[in-house]
Amino acid sequence: MRPKALVTRRLLPGAQRLLEEHLEIETGAVGRDLSREELLDKIRDKQGLLCLLVDRIDREVLEAAPQLRIIANCAVGYNNIDVTSASERGVMVTNTPGVLTESTADLTWALILATARLLPQAERYLRAGRFQGWALDLFLGKDVSGKCLGILGMGRIGRAVARRACAFRMQTLYYDPHPLDAEQEADLKAQAVSLDEVLAQADFLTLHTSLTPETRHLIGVQELARMKSSAVLINVSRGAVVDEKALVHALDDQEIWGAGLDVYEQEPEVEPGLLSHERVICLPHIGSASYETRLAMAMTAARNLIAGLSGESPPNLVSP
Ligand code: DGY
Repeated sequence: MRPKALVTRRLLPGAQRLLEEHLEIETGAVGRDLSREELLDKIRDKQGLLCLLVDRIDREVLEAAPQLRIIANCAVGYNNIDVTSASERGVMVTNTPGVLTESTADLTWALILATARLLPQAERYLRAGRFQGWALDLFLGKDVSGKCLGILGMGRIGRAVARRACAFRMQTLYYDPHPLDAEQEADLKAQAVSLDEVLAQADFLTLHTSLTPETRHLIGVQELARMKSSAVLINVSRGAVVDEKALVHALDDQEIWGAGLDVYEQEPEVEPGLLSHERVICLPHIGSASYETRLAMAMTAARNLIAGLSGESPPNLVSP
């Protein structure tokens, strides 16, 4: 008999097909997320779970699933899963690293440029029929080329962002508890500095850390106060890395110039002060949202699940 697995939301066709070839699949919901009650009910008799970052997989879910052997998250970040409790119960946890690096770095750059040059604001203005002709002072943004880029978190995505900064002839400073070696730094033209120095020097500060107890509110009142009043904050990592209320105050008090955000503390809720601020661009968590990348993420999660349920060690194990 084939192992039973729950997929919380229907995947893109190639990945769904792959799963159905190997496992007995129950698909949670089509076009919507599973409710908590549905999740707790459907997981009861399953050996495998393929979930999304919106599914909170905590001790309660694990206790409801006595036969569970593997949780395959369809995301590189896995702060939605209680990995410690899963490990205590011998449940493997996997993620999807690598496949979304380039598309997330691209989106980071799209946000840097769009925020600096006020692109959505300018487009809304034109569509509203307000464009009366070229003017010297129309939508004056900020230059990006030649400025200082600060990166917090120099993992795969941070490095891919730094690589693109070379084309903009930027000075790249970064902070990471595990700095790169000299060869990698030379290759990316990036220099490791203290957190304080990145905050003080960056014209554009972009966040690429995972969300852990240590990085929650990594950017708060004090950090924002250390930034240049001309600086732009970019976040495509996890919303809670930034204290959103502190960010609203910093923007209102002109402690920083603007922000480009793809992620929020309480998704899908967005702090109203961010939505209404004229120098903030808000995207709906689309960092990895290209068709190719989302399919690659789903295929990776599916392969992890199949491997784990076939008695193999899944390629992207994050649990010990
Ligand atoms: C991830 O994989 O963690 C991203 O946030 C999804 O795009």
